[in-house]
Amino acid sequence: MRIYKAKDYKDMSRKAANILSAQIIMKPNAVLGLATGSTPEGLYAQLIDWYQKGDLDFSKVISVNLDEYYGLSPESEQSYRYFMNHHLFDHVNIQTENTHLPNGLELDVKKEVARYTELIRSFDGIDMQLLGIGHNGHVGFNEPDTAFETQIHCVDLTESTIEANKRFFASADEVPKKAYTLGIKSIMQAKKILLVCSGADKADILYRALFGPVTPEVPASILQMHNDLIVVADEAALSKFPEELFD
Ligand code: PGA
Repeated sequence: MRIYKAKDYKDMSRKAANILSAQIIMKPNAVLGLATGSTPEGLYAQLIDWYQKGDLDFSKVISVNLDEYYGLSPESEQSYRYFMNHHLFDHVNIQTENTHLPNGLELDVKKEVARYTELIRSFDGIDMQLLGIGHNGHVGFNEPDTAFETQIHCVDLTESTIEANKRFFASADEVPKKAYTLGIKSIMQAKKILLVCSGADKADILYRALFGPVTPEVPASILQMHNDLIVVADEAALSKFPEELFD
């Protein structure tokens, strides 16, 4: 595991964008596992900026998103497809047919899980998986106590996740109760993982995830076992980590 300390959110976004763009430069047809949430927004904005300056080319990039709400259409402003279009895809030269998310409108879970599993398999896996971390240690929609062996699946969201995500909806009642997500095992199969984290409110969970026991109670703790984990976090999120780590 390598941990890079950034000064603040802006610096975290820039450092993480540098790592993701290095991946694209080294492998123009890279398969990127992308994530939604507030944390990667600045990183995506930085990638767009570099694209507009002519420093990045997404024409061969393939993207595979981590998760999508069950039952939401791609046109819904709360869907993760909408988020990705709005925060990245509409602003760079990625081919729409190369951008993939679980299909929230497919209500046949077995069918959608099989389709998405086969899709990722057909790309020979994910080169770099971008991840945020939830306050309860979730990654994607893998909530505490999800078995580490879980592959792509459809989950019932916990109250705390519904509560955290209601800020994007008119009310908590409108937050879908289920979502498709890559499972812990599918995430661990990515060749590289880039975890981004910002803010004092994440300091405890980030420390538990990276230095606490590896336990399904903290889904992100399994990332300690990945052989190519890169963490980019700001000073506030790293405030519980010993200073010597960064000498
Ligand atoms: P956030 O979400 O980036 O909006 O804090 C992270 C997550 O829940 O994975």
